[in-house]
Amino acid sequence: MSRLTLVLFGLLTLWHRSAAVEITSLPDRALILQFEKTGALLSISHKGKTVLESKIGYNRDVRNDFYEEEGILNITQVPHGFKVKWETVKLDTELKDCITFQDGVHWFGGPQRKEQHWPLEKMKIDGSEAYVLKQLDNFSVAEYYWLSSLGVYIHVNERTPLFVDQNNKEPNKLCFIAKAQSPYINRKRVILEYDIIIEDNARKAHMHAVENVLGKPKGHPNPMMVKEPIWTTWAKYKAKITDPVVLDFAKAIRKQNYTAGQLEIDDAWEKCYGAQEFDTSKDKFANIDSTVKELKKMDFRVTLWVHPFVDNDCKPTSEEGLKKGFFVKNPEGSTRATWWNGKDSHQIDFTKPEAAEWYAARLRKLQKSPGIDAFKFDAGETDYAPQPGVYDNLDQELVPNALSKHYVETCAQFGDLIEVRSGWRTQSLPVFIRMIDKDSNWGISNGLYTLITTLLQMNINGYSLVLPDMIGGNGYTDLPDAELIVRWTQANTFMPAMQFSYLPWDITSKKFDAPKIVKKFVDLHAEKSDIILEAMQEAVTSGKPVNPPIWWIAPEDPVALACDDEFLLGEKILVAPVIKKGATSRKVYLPDGNWSDGNSGKKYQGPLTIDSYSAPIDVLPWFIREA
Ligand SMILES: *[C@@H]1O[C@H](CO)[C@@H](O)[C@H](O)[C@H]1NC(C)=O
Ligand SMILES: *[C@@H]1O[C@H](CO)[C@@H](O)[C@H](O)[C@H]1NC(C)=O
Ligand SMILES: *[C@@H]1O[C@H](CO)[C@@H](O)[C@H](O)[C@H]1NC(C)=O
Ligand SMILES: *[C@@H]1O[C@H](CO)[C@@H](O)[C@H](O)[C@H]1NC(C)=O
Repeated sequence: MSRLTLVLFGLLTLWHRSAAVEITSLPDRALILQFEKTGALLSISHKGKTVLESKIGYNRDVRNDFYEEEGILNITQVPHGFKVKWETVKLDTELKDCITFQDGVHWFGGPQRKEQHWPLEKMKIDGSEAYVLKQLDNFSVAEYYWLSSLGVYIHVNERTPLFVDQNNKEPNKLCFIAKAQSPYINRKRVILEYDIIIEDNARKAHMHAVENVLGKPKGHPNPMMVKEPIWTTWAKYKAKITDPVVLDFAKAIRKQNYTAGQLEIDDAWEKCYGAQEFDTSKDKFANIDSTVKELKKMDFRVTLWVHPFVDNDCKPTSEEGLKKGFFVKNPEGSTRATWWNGKDSHQIDFTKPEAAEWYAARLRKLQKSPGIDAFKFDAGETDYAPQPGVYDNLDQELVPNALSKHYVETCAQFGDLIEVRSGWRTQSLPVFIRMIDKDSNWGISNGLYTLITTLLQMNINGYSLVLPDMIGGNGYTDLPDAELIVRWTQANTFMPAMQFSYLPWDITSKKFDAPKIVKKFVDLHAEKSDIILEAMQEAVTSGKPVNPPIWWIAPEDPVALACDDEFLLGEKILVAPVIKKGATSRKVYLPDGNWSDGNSGKKYQGPLTIDSYSAPIDVLPWFIREA
């Protein structure tokens, strides 16, 4: 077995003798290691400027004790940067390296959360739980990717049993911790490995990441899903849906002269959770065949909410799944999963091809009869399964996140009218990925503000085909009022799709004509849908984000880099929605370039701050960048 050794270009003994080592053979990029009593300070410079500082090897005397353990620290050059790799076969080892948040430097990427701070250095993450796709932390997208405003990105190797602790145990630090603890089971080694890539700015660094680690979509969702609204029964009716309720919902939409679009029958349509058959009892969906026919006659595409669970009392499906070994089990052999609708349930193990096919075949049956067009695939995170999940079919170093990947890949075979909500290394799939459920409020606590920050987080993680959640939120605690619905619709106008559940004409105000304003922006979205589709096609071709942060076109502009309440569509449209309750104006920042006002046609020359752009309730501030 190897002893823990620091390897720098084979200079095996250099590290004991010297207090510092430097690697400088890449053009303009240098890495310096300064040894301390415990650990070492790592600093990277680019063209003479420090662009990254971290402390590596926490709690370890790198020069002495390390040598007594079995393991290796190997820092090497890679094109455009460096690779740091710790590796040991001592499974009780905890490896920890922390990046320092430097003043004025911003970070992007990281996990999706309900409190979606942007830039990322404002977020706190308690690293006592693993950094995996999990509902507990609302990590439905949690790539191993961090990008800084100085043009550095860090990509952690997916085989690292990763925990991330940020602004928590160590203030102002982003810590990567590796340990072979649940849910990372059956490991033969502990590694903490990451690449640090250095480019001239954040945009160049991100494009390098797209080309080398994140990937880009192979196609995009159906244009009809972009152009026409999606109408879902969920927020308005919750579980109280029946044949007549769904039909009334559809008729109300048509009566208001809205385009039909996609009508989604959400929870609860199933006989029991996991049966994948309609509940055809008298007060539910006894007439589902004719309901679907009528919906189609009204021009709707009909989609159905589905999930990856089978409740234990949902027989005979659960019995069949148990008999065939299709459910995730833990090391004790228990298959008991829990989710929001089932305390005694099972999670289908999509890492087994026969189990995935068993699930998919039942969905295809629903497509034949009653004629469902596509599905809204919910959940997919790893922690609903019994913990720690055992996955015999997998490369053990990809446990547990590969469950989510296999699930989402199973979903994607259902074509370009579907949506999923989780993703792990699945940026290439040509389908919509929905933001996690939003709440009906204005703020950082999962409200309207986070519609923008979540959009940016997903785009910078390589997921550009973003389906915003329902306009006005889900109404779980508070209900949306007319002002929130109007401002939410406006903020959503230049995002890829518009999804309603609360019907705009049901929620009115004495002060303004809310239904009329909402309709105006739904029409504007439809009118601009060609630009959205062009941006999606560009994402397919080049990997550029569909809705990037505004620094995308000004990657060295400090104001643009810090901006969290504006976004772009492609590279030509800048959107600055009003997201504060009661506000009738807002500050707008336009980066370098010549701009024309989307409302008035007025010309501006950036960089420019407009201190108070007038935006009464019927105005969305948006701007066109002239070539
Ligand atoms: C260090 O890493 C480099 C690049 O990954 C590899 O080629 C080399 O074999 C490693 N050295 C040791 C001693 O493991
Ligand atoms: C995740 O979401 C739930 C439900 O909205 C919330 O109660 C919880 O605080 C969130 N957890 C974290 C760590 O953000
Ligand atoms: C819908 O269109 C019809 C026919 O043009 C019109 O009579 C009706 O008033 C419209 N309804 C609404 C709510 O705009
Ligand atoms: C912006 O407009 C100014 C003045 O009309 C012009 O001189 C400049 O070239 C334009 N810049 C760009 C990037 O088009």
